[in-house]
Amino acid sequence: MALLYRELGIDLGTVNTLIAEGGEVVLSEPTMAAIDVDEQKIVALGQEAKDMYGRVPEGIQVMYPLRDGVIADYEVTERILSYFIQKVCGPLRLFKPRAMVTVPYGVTSVEGRAAHEATFRAGSREVFLVPRSLAAAAGAGLPIGTPSGNMVVYLGGGASESAVIAVNGIVVANTVRVGGQRLDEAIATYVRHKHGLVIELTSDIIDRGMMLCGGGSLLRGVDRYFTQVTGVPAYLAEEPVACLALGAERVLKQVELFRRFLPPA
Ligand SMILES: Nc1ncnc2c1ncn2[C@@H]1O[C@H](COP(=O)(O)OP(=O)(O)OP(=O)(O)O)[C@@H](O)[C@H]1O
Ligand SMILES: [Mg+2]
Repeated sequence: MALLYRELGIDLGTVNTLIAEGGEVVLSEPTMAAIDVDEQKIVALGQEAKDMYGRVPEGIQVMYPLRDGVIADYEVTERILSYFIQKVCGPLRLFKPRAMVTVPYGVTSVEGRAAHEATFRAGSREVFLVPRSLAAAAGAGLPIGTPSGNMVVYLGGGASESAVIAVNGIVVANTVRVGGQRLDEAIATYVRHKHGLVIELTSDIIDRGMMLCGGGSLLRGVDRYFTQVTGVPAYLAEEPVACLALGAERVLKQVELFRRFLPPA
């Protein structure tokens, strides 16, 4: 039987937003808006806004509405999400999609509510939130339903996090609001520190290693670097960037399994 509604995995990022549907990435665009400062009007969104960057007429400002992984400008984020969702689903009348949106692990209730509200008002019938590391693990097909631990390190543009996931939930995790250009040794050192705590919990990680994902993991040699600093084998996810949106959709399709581990919205 055909579903009456569509289901989207939305990886809302500081730099890029990806949307997955039907097990495929169907949209990938910069999370950017171009604004006419005098008229306080949005003139372009997503890729179009990015294309204006650097060669915009005076009075037009190109900006990112998220900062450090969370929404900084609510209105602009809602407009961008609305634009992206309509690009994927067409004009929204009766059949609004359900959506699972990624947020950093440990978001405050205010930050979580902003992500929830913006996605809802952008034209969704129902919205859930999922930590980025959990979405990545689900999207990469790690055996997260089993009792043994799966370690994921997500290196994003605005925030990074590491987590150990078992039985469909996060066992231990932490976020650093650092990503992209600010990504440096601090994160590896932090993972080593955190890793010490994790191994108090489980030895699975030593056998399986840790999975790296996010745009920052594309930096050449990051896997070798993490292996060296932590002493635990680090490997790159098969689809290091797409796995979050793909995983968000997967979690949405089995939401009852995950529900009690998802951030409240
Ligand atoms: N090919 C590459 N080599 C090295 N670094 C890269 C590459 N591509 C992207 N990056 C880095 O990844 C960052 C973007 O990562 P990503 O798309 O995962 O962030 P995001 O999802 O938008 O942000 P966040 O999830 O933290 O809110 C960029 O800031 C850049 O530093
Ligand atoms: Mg991201």
